Amino acid sequence: EPENGGRNPRLRFKSVAPNSEDKVTVPEGYDHNVVVRWGDAVLPDAPEFDFEDQTAAAQEKQFGYNCDYVDFIQLDDDRGLLWVNHEYTNEKLMFAGYTDGTDVEVEQILVSMAAHGGSVVEIERIGGTGGWRLATGERRFNRRITATTRMELTGPAAGHELLRTGQDPTGTEVFGMLNNCAGGKTPWGTILTCEENFNQYFVGGEGVAEEDKPALKRYGIKVEGDTRKGNRRFDRAEERFDLSKHPHEANRFGYVVEVDPTDPGSTPRKRTMLGRIKHEGATTRVTSDGRVAVYMGDDERFDYMYKFVTAGKYRKGSRRHNMTLLDSGTLYVARLTGNSPPEEIDGSGRLPSDGEFDGTGEWIPLCSATESFVDGFTVAEVLIHTRLAADAAGATKMDRPEDIEPSPVTGKVYAALTNNSAREPGQADEPNPRGPNKFGHILEIVEDRNDAGAETFTWNVPIVCGDPEDESTYFAGFDKSKVAHISAPDNVTFDDRGNLWIATDGQPGSLGTNDQLCAVPVEGRFRGELRTFATVPVGAETCGPFITEDNLTVFMAPQHPGEDGTVENPQSTWPDHRGYPRPSVVSIWHTRGKKVGR
Ligand code: FEO
Ligand code: CA
Ligand code: CA
Ligand code: CA
Repeated sequence: EPENGGRNPRLRFKSVAPNSEDKVTVPEGYDHNVVVRWGDAVLPDAPEFDFEDQTAAAQEKQFGYNCDYVDFIQLDDDRGLLWVNHEYTNEKLMFAGYTDGTDVEVEQILVSMAAHGGSVVEIERIGGTGGWRLATGERRFNRRITATTRMELTGPAAGHELLRTGQDPTGTEVFGMLNNCAGGKTPWGTILTCEENFNQYFVGGEGVAEEDKPALKRYGIKVEGDTRKGNRRFDRAEERFDLSKHPHEANRFGYVVEVDPTDPGSTPRKRTMLGRIKHEGATTRVTSDGRVAVYMGDDERFDYMYKFVTAGKYRKGSRRHNMTLLDSGTLYVARLTGNSPPEEIDGSGRLPSDGEFDGTGEWIPLCSATESFVDGFTVAEVLIHTRLAADAAGATKMDRPEDIEPSPVTGKVYAALTNNSAREPGQADEPNPRGPNKFGHILEIVEDRNDAGAETFTWNVPIVCGDPEDESTYFAGFDKSKVAHISAPDNVTFDDRGNLWIATDGQPGSLGTNDQLCAVPVEGRFRGELRTFATVPVGAETCGPFITEDNLTVFMAPQHPGEDGTVENPQSTWPDHRGYPRPSVVSIWHTRGKKVGR
């Protein structure tokens, strides 16, 4: 019987064994290399990396810290552009003796600010293989975006009172993007890079007006006690990060930012129409009638899954038109209803009597560009205080929605719910069936009529993560003695047979082994047969991943190697083994030129 349109999705590589080694491990028959490291030259005139003598002027031209989302734009057979998010900085691993930003030289704070943001780097293929390295020569696309790069706020909320500050009375111009976690690519080739835990960059919340505090608090911004302790203190470099002086500045972060990687002079745009949440990622699919749907998760315990659908249609080849699409459309939040009796969901992970965690769902409209559908909120308020509007709309509280991504092969949408230690057994429901949820799970969404523009869907939980020997786990019914363990699913991608590739963030603390990149068929007889494709160094989470269109390369970004160490006591020294770790991007390929996973 043909599976997956006649394409056997079965994976052929032998699982990498779980380990705690300070290196990247790939399956037999595969090789890998480090493509680009923190501090490598991005702009042609960048000075050589000097760990002992870091300056903001150098860092602004060098590859940033903690690589997260990775995308790739192929220029020709042997050249391409790598887009990489730099989510955040770990100063304890960057600077000796660091405790927080209060007493350090301001120059050190400026280095951190310059190490945030994103990079575009031109790369070249290594002699006919699936391996890639930094290109030499002109590199005219190379670019650094940082916490101080000029950007525009666009869409219905741009210019609103809540976005105006003393520095920007227009409410349309903002400097920098912060904590860019995952992302996606539009059908027209631009990058969507997503601001996640922006709350941690602001101090002075105790000094804002009482009536402004609840909204700040809903986003995790500290509004009482000593808000400066333990902070990076960007406010010491730029006063705007002190909310007691600039209470609206935090409203200008938490967006999906559209960047054109092929135009280094272009202005990044924060698209307010896609709402303000702790945006994990933003992935796209064209609807049946030619509009564009964007799937987005809000990574917080008990927060929500969102979808945006453009008002206008995607026009192939018409970039100017397409670059307006994300400013107008409908923003939705997900509500999921289980089909089994609630008393059968006891939080243990035991399957209900119908044999599946599954049910139906609806995308609840929050607003269009001109009309709010939530009582008590204007359009701009929905888009700036999106979490509060979604609370009011009765959305389903999920176990930390990370990547949500449609399969390019089947159109089914997969969400990584990474974990939720705070869900009580009595709070378990069919879409979040375990409480506490230490290991996370995967949700599969099938839009009605398989149309990304649909307002209703069905869903099921194909994988309940953990050690397969743990009774509370489920691997789509596949023989659990034959699958690898998995915990804390975070970023996802697909190969050309529609297999789901999952990167993890948190296995050291939950399974006691390094994080991994695994792959699992989601169609046919082998649905649920999860295998480990690669593991990352000590203390790192697995980011990226990105599989090239020719399926010859997997890009993977081991983020925060040695996370819990310090300069004095490093727990990882990957990849250089010279005393300190360097977050980097690697490429992985089959040594005999096969497609990855085959
Ligand atoms: Fe930055 Fe939700 O991971
Ligand atoms: Ca059910
Ligand atoms: Ca993530
Ligand atoms: Ca994560």
